[in-house]
Amino acid sequence: MTDPSCLAVVLAAGEGTRMKSDQPKVMHPIGGRPLIDAVLDSARAGGAGRLAVVIGAGADKVRAHLAKAAPDARVFEQRERLGTAHAALSARQALTGHAGPVLVLFGDTPLVRPATIAALIGRLGAGADIALLGFATDAPTGYGRLIVEDGRLVAIVEEKDADAATKAIRLCNSGIMAFRPGLLPDLLDAIGNANAKGEYYLTDAIAIATARGLRAEALIGDDESEFVGVNDRAQLAAAEAIFQRRARDEAMAAGATLVAPETVFFSHDTRLGRDVIVEPNVVFAPGVEVASGVTIRAFSHLEGARVASGAIVGPYARLRPGADLAENVHVGNFVEIKNARVDRGAKVNHLTYIGDASIGARTNVGAGTITCNYDGVFKHKTTIGADVFVGSNTVMVAPVRIGDNALTAAGSVITTDVPDDALVFGRARQEVKEGRGAAIKAALVARKAAKPAG
Ligand code: UD1
Ligand code: MG
Repeated sequence: MTDPSCLAVVLAAGEGTRMKSDQPKVMHPIGGRPLIDAVLDSARAGGAGRLAVVIGAGADKVRAHLAKAAPDARVFEQRERLGTAHAALSARQALTGHAGPVLVLFGDTPLVRPATIAALIGRLGAGADIALLGFATDAPTGYGRLIVEDGRLVAIVEEKDADAATKAIRLCNSGIMAFRPGLLPDLLDAIGNANAKGEYYLTDAIAIATARGLRAEALIGDDESEFVGVNDRAQLAAAEAIFQRRARDEAMAAGATLVAPETVFFSHDTRLGRDVIVEPNVVFAPGVEVASGVTIRAFSHLEGARVASGAIVGPYARLRPGADLAENVHVGNFVEIKNARVDRGAKVNHLTYIGDASIGARTNVGAGTITCNYDGVFKHKTTIGADVFVGSNTVMVAPVRIGDNALTAAGSVITTDVPDDALVFGRARQEVKEGRGAAIKAALVARKAAKPAG
């Protein structure tokens, strides 16, 4: 349940040096959206009613993105990157005016589940002053290690400050912490920077709180994949793989058949209905909604598209943004559809480009058809009515309209509107010259025979 009194502070100012990128780290995508969006969504769904984001590296880009993607978040800028505690302090204005619990999350830890966050906040109600999400892993390198004594979390030691014995600890800090109301600003002020990196570590809040007699608890997650932090490209790929595994499992659990799940790629917002069949090697880029009973055949790529029930798409189909397929539409191999409505039962089966168009119900579009939607400067619309037979290799130069029940002759270039029920030709008339083919061939053969050898 969302608690309007719970504030989530997301730290997203880091340089992301290890990414070796011109993009701010938190703008790198997972499941087709920036890392920061995934974190904010989890925080919201986990119960945070208020959001603050601390940005720094690439601030302009992140700020512009947040203005669109998370207008409900307050944005603070950390001008120098002096560590995670310093980053949290950059949001002081949000902290001091806030009476409820505070959650701190890292912008580079995108896979934590909302239920895990909700459970963490729940620990505050159960007596903890600070609750922190930890995880046990066989690959702890790079993470802060949790020092637990008698079931209490007493300190966190960062990798760079850890001795060999501490490095052997497998319990790690996810970076996600919840603080009892009013506690955080004070603790942050007490944190210094006497450590290997000379940074203000938020993790020092644990030892300081313990010294003050406060109770810190580590909630150890049982799924370490939730806590993968993205610091370099290999970790980005690892996080993406975890996202994909979850998305595939969820799609199957909801009643879709994935013939070869490991070859199907989803986005954060992909929606598949029941009894959808997805053949191997299909990519769902963002913004795809597929109704029940649809078959997506192998090697298709869909983005920003809607597919209604009973439709068959592919193999080798490409649906681009604005493709809107009604019930029982068939879209076949090497067909690209962009910003076009294709009405019930229409078929576009082979080697075709349909862009900025509408196609009426039951219309059949022949192989090699193209809508010429672009004149080099402007885009124009092609309107094809219902029950039309578009002959193979028809080129429709937009803006143009083909009436209901019309028929276009194969190979036509259509430049003006066609009325209902008409037959339209737009090609050179065929001429047949009896015997002329054989004569040309004989002349050529004779010329070759007459040529001197070599
Ligand atoms: C941090 C934790 C570590 C934990 C790990 C989990 C600290 C000191 N260390 O290490 O205990 O195991 O995350 O992934 O907290 N950031 C700022 N401003 C700064 C520095 C960082 O906003 O000045 C942000 C980053 O953008 C990032 C987050 O804080 O989202 C964590 O910073 P990062 O440098 O990735 O810390 P880690 O080395 O991963
Ligand atoms: Mg990190």
